[in-house]
Amino acid sequence: MTILVTGGAGFIGSNFVLDWLRLHDEPVVNLDKLTYAGNRENLASLEGDARHHFVHGDIGDRALVERLLAEHRPRAVLHFAAESHVDRSIHGPEDFIQTNVVGTFRLLEAVRAYWTALPAAEQAAFRFLHVSTDEVFGSLGPHDPPFAETHRYEPNSPYSASKAASDHLVHAWHHTYGLPVITTNCSNNYGPYHFPEKLIPLMIVNALAGKPLPVYGDGQQVRDWLYVGDHCAAIRRVLQAGRVGETYNIGGHNERTNLDVVRTICRLLDALAPAPARGVCDVRSGAPVQRYEQLITFVTDRPGHDRRYAMDARKIERELDWRPAETFDSGLRKTVQWYLDHPDWVQRVQSGAYRAWVQRQYGQEALA
Ligand code: NAD
Ligand code: DAU
Repeated sequence: MTILVTGGAGFIGSNFVLDWLRLHDEPVVNLDKLTYAGNRENLASLEGDARHHFVHGDIGDRALVERLLAEHRPRAVLHFAAESHVDRSIHGPEDFIQTNVVGTFRLLEAVRAYWTALPAAEQAAFRFLHVSTDEVFGSLGPHDPPFAETHRYEPNSPYSASKAASDHLVHAWHHTYGLPVITTNCSNNYGPYHFPEKLIPLMIVNALAGKPLPVYGDGQQVRDWLYVGDHCAAIRRVLQAGRVGETYNIGGHNERTNLDVVRTICRLLDALAPAPARGVCDVRSGAPVQRYEQLITFVTDRPGHDRRYAMDARKIERELDWRPAETFDSGLRKTVQWYLDHPDWVQRVQSGAYRAWVQRQYGQEALA
C-alpha cells in the first residue's frame, strides 16, 4: 500500500511525511511544486530511503497526477499543497486561486477518474483527505463560542476564500460523485520547519538577529495554537478512522493574543539564548539588547485582519479519541530550541526569494 501526499515539502507536509515514515513502512509519494515555501532540505533525512518517492510537480498538472496515480496506485491522497500565507494573498491573490482552487479542482478530477476505475474493494477503502483551515469560518467576537464544524463559512481574506472554495469543491465531489473524502479544518500550527514569514518563526529568527519584532496593530488578535506534530497525529487518526463525507475541526484549546505569544517567545529566548551572552545588538540603534522584548515594534495592521480564531475540537476528541499531546509551553519550548539548533536551515531559507518578500512586507529596515 502507498499514500500520495501533496505539498509534502512544506511546513506541515514535511512534518507529516517525516512522522509517517518514522511510524510506518508504508511508502509515500510526495508531489510538491517547490514554491518558495517548499524546501527539500526538510526531507534531507529521507535521502536514499526507498519508502519516499519525491516528485517535483504541480497538483494542477492533471496528466502528471494521473500518471502518478496509475503508477503507484495509492490507497489515499492527503492534500496539503496550497498557497498558505495570508499576507502574500493580500499582495497577490492570483497564485492562491490557481493552486488552492484550480489546482484542487484538477487534483479532484484526476483522483475521481482513478477512483472510479478501481476494483470495488479498493474503491471502498480509498480516501481523499483534504487539509484545510479554521480561517474559512471567518472571525469570532471576544465572547463567541469556538468554531464548530457546523459554523457557517465566512472567509475574509483571499487566502481563506480560496481555501473555502477548495473545501466546497471537495464536499461537492463527495456529494455528487461519491468520492470518499474527509476534510480537516485546523487552527494555527507551529513547530520545526516553519517558514520564517509566519508569526512564531519570524519572531524567533528576528529576535536572535536583533531585528524588530513586528506586531500588527494592537497585537490583541487571538489565535488557537497547535503543535504541528499534534496536527499530523490528528490527520493520521482521521485517515485511519474518520467517517467519509465528514469534516473534523482540529485545535489546541490554546487561545493566545499575538502579543502574549511574542512575549512568551522573548522570555523563552531570554532563558535559552540570553541576548547579552550572544552579543545581540538592536539593528536600528546598535545598542546591546538586554531582553528580547525590547525589540517588539507595533506596525501597521494587516488589512481585513481577523480578530479571533478558536476551534471546538470536541468532535474529533469524542469520535476518534484524538487529543493534543503538547501544551503550548512544551511545544513552544521545543520549537524555540529547534530554531536554536538549526541556524544553517534558517540561514539558507533566509536567502533569495524569502529576502525579497521580507523587504516588500516590512521595508528595508527589516533586512538590515
Ligand atoms: P506551506 O506554505 O508551508 O507549504 C505548502 C507546500 O505546498 C509547499 O511545499 C509548496 O511548495 C507546495 N505547493 C504549493 N503550490 C503547489 C502546487 N500547485 N502543486 C504542488 N505543490 C504545491 O503550508 P503549510 O503551512 O504547511 O500548510 C499546509 C496545508 O495546511 C495548507 O493546505 C494550509 O492551508 C493548511 N493549514 C495550515 C495551517 C498552518 O498553521 N500553517 C493551519 C491549518 C491548515
Ligand atoms: O489559522 C490557520 C492559519 O494560520 C493557516 O490556515 C495559514 O495557512 C497560516 O499561515 C496561519 O495564518 P495566520 O494569518 O493566522 O498566521 P500568521 O503566522 O501569518 O499570523 C499569525 C498572527 O500574527 C496573525 O494575527 C497576524 C499576526 N502577525 C503575523 C506576522 C507575520 C503579526 O502580528 N506580525 C507578523 O509579522
